[in-house]
Amino acid sequence: MKGLILSGGKGTRLRPLTFTSAKQLLPVANTPVLFRVIQAIRDAGISEIGVVIGDTGEEIKAAAGDGSRWGVHLTYIPQPAPLGLAHAVKISRDYLGDERFVMFLGDNVIQGGIHSLIRQFASSTYNSQIVLTEVADPRQYGVAVLDEQGRIARLIEKPKDPPSNLALVGIYMFDRHIFDAVEAIKPSWRNELEITDAIQWLVSNGFSVYPYVHKGWWVDTGKAVDMLEANSLVLSELTPHIEGSVDSDSSVDSRVTVGAGAQIINSVVRGPTIIGENTHIINSYVGPFTSIYHDCVIENAEIERCIVLENCHISDLPARLQDSLIGRNVSVGKSSHKPRAYKLTLGDYSQIELH
Ligand code: TTP
Repeated sequence: MKGLILSGGKGTRLRPLTFTSAKQLLPVANTPVLFRVIQAIRDAGISEIGVVIGDTGEEIKAAAGDGSRWGVHLTYIPQPAPLGLAHAVKISRDYLGDERFVMFLGDNVIQGGIHSLIRQFASSTYNSQIVLTEVADPRQYGVAVLDEQGRIARLIEKPKDPPSNLALVGIYMFDRHIFDAVEAIKPSWRNELEITDAIQWLVSNGFSVYPYVHKGWWVDTGKAVDMLEANSLVLSELTPHIEGSVDSDSSVDSRVTVGAGAQIINSVVRGPTIIGENTHIINSYVGPFTSIYHDCVIENAEIERCIVLENCHISDLPARLQDSLIGRNVSVGKSSHKPRAYKLTLGDYSQIELH
């Protein structure tokens, strides 16, 4: 089997971070989501992986390289425009050939890996298998209806009156018949070739499409709140280790990871939390579910349930910073200059909440 990771797209819901970075490279617990996807596919025993890329392709290539660091071989497949998930399959036909493959959205994070579902599909004669999971509010998702034999009978996008609470997760397995489907379907109202339409085509044309119900958690990191949620879930499962230094005036609990060269000075750090390499935490409080990337300084500040990317400087905050996603090279601090006012330099589409 081969793997196909979709790592193009526009990432509009994660602006402004996606103006300067591919959303799949945003880190969850200090590891880019894309790297987690590559590892999950590798751990399922697949070593040939195609990566569909768009405008941010060069950055993704520079970050992931040829894949040898994970023991896999990555082949990049440029998509001229983000014309939909089924379009990404269509342009990958030459790469995939007649092999069965797993397609994984490059911005999804799943608990527990994908080896059991790959094993089930590899040993089956199904034409396709799609991963479903129970969700609290199916109205925001693609929802599957099963027939009496337990096969997929129908897929409905964002149903007002959901027939089940089984939503589509961003992982799909196909055989070569999916190429007939993506050729046959027409673009949707948003001018994209939809993967749900392609799967529906398989069902309507008599091909066998089976569900795989995933029991653990799964997060599509499309928006900032989802990134924070994925970060909390992954941090909770991290095996902590301390490589940097913690001074005797600091208190760091057992669920904290401190990277090499990092220093915790006169501070309290409560896990699950990860502090990146060469980051300094000085006279501060870092609360649970926080990931601070490499080369940051947090000084005289309180921060909790945040993701902070590299090389940020956060100091002298009048209140606790919480539930925030902070990009690279950001400076947040207090000014002693008059007038006393909020002074902001924000990128387009930034969001600030002040109280
Ligand atoms: P989406 O989150 O559906 O789309 P998007 O990345 O364009 O984001 P937004 O809606 O915020 O503008 O994409 C899911 C994944 O698939 C993501 O990793 C990007 C990738 N993708 C492609 O590779 N090609 C495409 O044509 C599309 C639509 C998405």
